[in-house]
Amino acid sequence: MEKLITHFGYNDSEVRIFEGLYPVPNGMAYNSYLIKDEKIAVCDTVDECVTAQWLADLEVALDGAKPDYLIVHHVEPDHSYGMGAFLAKYPDTVVVGNAKTFPMLENFYGAVEHKKVVAGGEVLPLGKTSLQFTMAAMIHWPEVMVSYEAYTKSLFAADAFGKFGVIDDEGWACEARRYYYNIVGKYGVQVQKLLASLGGLEINTIYSLHGPVLTGELVKEAIDKYVIWSQWGVESSGVIIATAGAHGNTHNAGKELYDMLTAKGVKAKLFDLTEVDMSFVIEDAFKYDKLVLAAATYYSEIFPPMENFLRMLLSKGYGNRKVGIIENGAWMAQSGKKMLAMIEDAKAKNVEIVGPMVTIKCALNDDTRAQLAVLADELSK
Ligand code: FEO
Repeated sequence: MEKLITHFGYNDSEVRIFEGLYPVPNGMAYNSYLIKDEKIAVCDTVDECVTAQWLADLEVALDGAKPDYLIVHHVEPDHSYGMGAFLAKYPDTVVVGNAKTFPMLENFYGAVEHKKVVAGGEVLPLGKTSLQFTMAAMIHWPEVMVSYEAYTKSLFAADAFGKFGVIDDEGWACEARRYYYNIVGKYGVQVQKLLASLGGLEINTIYSLHGPVLTGELVKEAIDKYVIWSQWGVESSGVIIATAGAHGNTHNAGKELYDMLTAKGVKAKLFDLTEVDMSFVIEDAFKYDKLVLAAATYYSEIFPPMENFLRMLLSKGYGNRKVGIIENGAWMAQSGKKMLAMIEDAKAKNVEIVGPMVTIKCALNDDTRAQLAVLADELSK
């Protein structure tokens, strides 16, 4: 089959925080695609930091031709920033979006002169190739759409199936999972709907706007993972212990629990929320089936890094898992009942509170160590 689709993938190795929230120790990648058929379509632009290089590469690939369409699958600026410079260079291009695309796009960049509004199910013929649009609201903004190209059996997936990190040999799943739960996780029901609408399609290639182009076994792996993630499903058995406190005693309790669990052969991971970004803990909290929240009391409330973590975790739809609680308070421990109240107020589904709630006064002693041992027994069942 002749090459009809060109991938323009760009790495930003300098960026440290993506979208103002998420650490990206391995950078970030932005993708745009060119379909060169009887009609020429460019699928999405790129982030500001790589727009100049993208335009130069696009000019070479077009080889004197002019694009007919710019498809805007997602308006967020990491994919639309290049539109202004692109339209200045190719002013006759028709911008293709849906009814929600253009108000947002024009709020960012001003009026769009040539536009085509498409609806879900509509097909844009390009020659041998064509793009069939499916609305994918909230994956990850309300205007998002994806498109299926039947001749090459390709899915242009917008943010879906993307990952943190530059395009390299790093495996897909880990940083794709952190990306999914932190950025899209709240909208699992919408992801389930999208997967159902794509269910009958043969997909050989997934073109996401972030990360590598997915082909071969990776397509199946990615779709299988999205089926699990969209249902907030458990992938592995194990205990994530997240701690937050001022002087190390709460973390020490988490560490002793970790040692008890691993001595029993239980898979466990220990995170200090005062040191690690919560996005990594959120990823593992969803990967595994048990979570222990260990927090000091702070002005009669939950120590802030734990409160922030728990609020964010619950906002992503946390559920279907077992949770243990450790609280600490020098004179009046309050964090345990406050964490339980947050879980209850969020109406978290299928959260089972296990073991005794361990209440530490300042530091562990024989009595609280014995309570930790009971909690470890409960978590190892
Ligand atoms: Fe990659 Fe929702 O933008």
